[in-house]
Amino acid sequence: NKLTPYVDALPIPVVVKSSGLRPDPDDAKKELPFYRVAMQEIHQKVHRDLPATRMWGFNGSSPGPIFETKSGQGLVVEWANELPVKHFLPIDHTLHGAEPDKPEVRCVVHVHGGRTPAASDGYPEDWVVPGKSLVYHYPNKQDGALLFYHDHTMGINRLNIYAGLQGLFVVRDETEDKLNLPKGKYEVPLMLFDRFLRSDGQLEYPVSGDPKSPWVPEVYSNVMLANGKLSPYLDVEPRKYRFRVMNGSNARFFRLSFGNLLEMHLIGGDQGLLGAPVKMKRALVAPAERADIVFDFSAHAGEKIVLKSDSFDIMQFRVAASGSGDTSSLPPVLRTIERIPESRAVKTRRLTLDETMDKVQQSMGMMLNNTPWHMPVTEKPVIDTTEIWELVNLTEDSHPIHLHLVKFQLLDRRSFDVFQFQDTGELRYSGAATPAAPEEAGWKDTVRCDKGQVTRIIVPFEGYTGRYVWHCHLLEHEDNEMMRPFEVVAAGA
Ligand code: C2O
Ligand code: CU
Repeated sequence: NKLTPYVDALPIPVVVKSSGLRPDPDDAKKELPFYRVAMQEIHQKVHRDLPATRMWGFNGSSPGPIFETKSGQGLVVEWANELPVKHFLPIDHTLHGAEPDKPEVRCVVHVHGGRTPAASDGYPEDWVVPGKSLVYHYPNKQDGALLFYHDHTMGINRLNIYAGLQGLFVVRDETEDKLNLPKGKYEVPLMLFDRFLRSDGQLEYPVSGDPKSPWVPEVYSNVMLANGKLSPYLDVEPRKYRFRVMNGSNARFFRLSFGNLLEMHLIGGDQGLLGAPVKMKRALVAPAERADIVFDFSAHAGEKIVLKSDSFDIMQFRVAASGSGDTSSLPPVLRTIERIPESRAVKTRRLTLDETMDKVQQSMGMMLNNTPWHMPVTEKPVIDTTEIWELVNLTEDSHPIHLHLVKFQLLDRRSFDVFQFQDTGELRYSGAATPAAPEEAGWKDTVRCDKGQVTRIIVPFEGYTGRYVWHCHLLEHEDNEMMRPFEVVAAGA
């Protein structure tokens, strides 16, 4: 009963339309485009031969519609929770934030990678119940980049996103506009994620053996969806295309390749363009990371090329025999990215990534710096200063660590003696530091912290003061304590 691949066209999410103007919260004389986006239960076909799948989407689709805006062009969004009052995925009421006294269905939306004032950032405890809305302001004072929006609700974030609550958010800028990269229908947004689908086409979220605590540490599912379709195809012309890829999986890392390891160019990452294109055969994309890829089909007229990740065939490109010509370019220089000197950092914080075992309940959890979510804020960077964060991974996994509000640069990764550190607290390096490779040398907001490594990032805290969060973007980890607040404070505070 294997499904026939490549019978459905790749859906391209629609661009969300503004429905009027609202006063700019920063400047009463100005008005900003206003959008109303509703979270609803939907039934959507993921494959021609499957019944429609129950999901949660935005304005009737999952992934939701795409936001398109420009650097500095603010917007106001009303996120309306129009979901049913019962969840259709298994809630673990032993997790912090999901206790039995909490309403089952709660939502709060965060724009990942957005430089957003704290009040509009979607703090995990700012959730609303069905029938209620949040009105958020996004000033978008930041460089062009592929951002994305998703649910961020305390204790059930992994379930809400798995149900479908995520979508893309594109910020453009002049630097990018001048480059003449492939655009219009030659620029393809691609949100990729894996899901467990039962044979009746319905979503299944795996559970542990313990009915009281169904939480599982990671989800690696059986099918891969591209913009919500299973094994779709896309008709392309023999020319250059730009793919704006985002990994929307709960826990799966992708190693993307075209066909039999054909050459592609990585031109950007989480927070926009790299300094220069990087030739690659495989692109490693952790959950929540973005990859901006230019692939040239011109040598493949009439062929079929499969986009793969390890053993998964994700989708198929059907290259036409001829096209309408290609006037786009792939410039050798994309933009200037100044590397931040380490000397600019006013503070270095050493922060551990931990796996924990509850002695009473024998249940496993994850933590940042051995500190549960509800403890007082310990990281309080001063606005307009730069810090180095040393992320010391004491676990057996790779964790994509994300900081809200900021963009940062990866300095290096370095192996260390984990047991020595656990026994004595002393950090003893066991190898040389590996500086950021060209494909990771741009601005980032999510960084892969591999096991047995110290990953160092340098972070300018700019934009706004206020309370934000940092966390692992493996959603199961995030929901089980691998998230902490941080607070950007005014100088002298
Ligand atoms: Cu994708 Cu806290 O974010
Ligand atoms: Cu993690």
